[in-house]
Amino acid sequence: MSNKPALLGLLGALPLLGSLPALADTDGQQLYRQHCVKCHAADGRANTMRGWLYFAQNLSKAKWQDNTSDNDILEAIQEGPGAMPGYADKLSETEQLALVRAVRDLRKP
Ligand code: HEC
Repeated sequence: MSNKPALLGLLGALPLLGSLPALADTDGQQLYRQHCVKCHAADGRANTMRGWLYFAQNLSKAKWQDNTSDNDILEAIQEGPGAMPGYADKLSETEQLALVRAVRDLRKP
């Protein structure tokens, strides 16, 4: 496992410094790093300690991507199934939609 989680934690803290209102579009990748990587991992495979502990979904799986609608993903982000926290009142709708796109980008062939 090495010291990857510590490094990812550091990366997760960076967006806080950069979240100035002047920034143009909402960066889904950055939000994903900030909120989701600790469980779902940078590549979505959820092969992190917490991913294992909580049985987090492998978001890169083509089959899962195919069987899941954008709306399902949005709902998961808002409500947080199982051990996942909900982000309905932590993130704006624009941020939630940017995260849906970031999750789509994790798809592996
Ligand atoms: C505390 C760990 C944790 C964090 C943080 C977390 N998740 Fe999850 N996530 C889970 C777990 C566990 C599941 C599987 C829940 C279940 O269905 O039993 C899951 C499931 C999902 C699913 C699949 C739902 C489905 O319909 O199959 C999506 C999409 C998802 N997470 C996206 C995200 C996004 C985007 C973020 C960041 C905003 C995030 N998660 C943050 C633990 C986490």
